[in-house]
Amino acid sequence: MMKIKRINVHLTEQEVEQRIRDLAEQISVHYGEDPLCLICILKGAAFFACELAKRITSPVELEFMSVSSYGAGTTSSGVVRINYDLGTSIEGKNILVVEDIIDTGRTLKYLMENLKTRNPKSIKLCTLLDKPERRAVDMEADYVGFVIPDEFVVGYGLDWNQQYRNLPYIGFLEIEE
Ligand code: IMP
Ligand code: MG
Repeated sequence: MMKIKRINVHLTEQEVEQRIRDLAEQISVHYGEDPLCLICILKGAAFFACELAKRITSPVELEFMSVSSYGAGTTSSGVVRINYDLGTSIEGKNILVVEDIIDTGRTLKYLMENLKTRNPKSIKLCTLLDKPERRAVDMEADYVGFVIPDEFVVGYGLDWNQQYRNLPYIGFLEIEE
């Protein structure tokens, strides 16, 4: 039986929100007046995508997609299932995929390949968190909020067994076996 010991705050609400403003500014400068379609990967990226969308000054369309990747324990296998697909075509659009975290990179590898086959005009990736030490496949984001060490994090959309998504900050979860 696993017991949660505590959650150590790693990034405060203020730090996260300031970084999101910075990212939104960079993204707005890049796209200018060109419309872009944000694809929020549910559920983890929901809080991040909404805050980011609010700060982008380019014309924004917001779409949602839900994927899950299966693997033993806490590592994803790269076998990805689309639980909920886009309700619209992305052909000819500027796409910015918004994800909560890149861990092994397997989920995004599959997802980015899948979206590219739908012929967007351009496709970029924005992630709130990046754990490069854990990477199993070649995957880099165009916009990264924070690079973090190899620790399990929760909050600001990220969960542990569907819990803690609603924390306004990002913390390291300490689990006692
Ligand atoms: P990947 O395919 O290994 O990159 O898996 C990425 C997915 O695993 C993310 O979208 C998260 O849902 C989940 N994940 C990876 N690391 C963490 C973490 O530290 N906390 C919460 N979820 C995580
Ligand atoms: Mg996720």
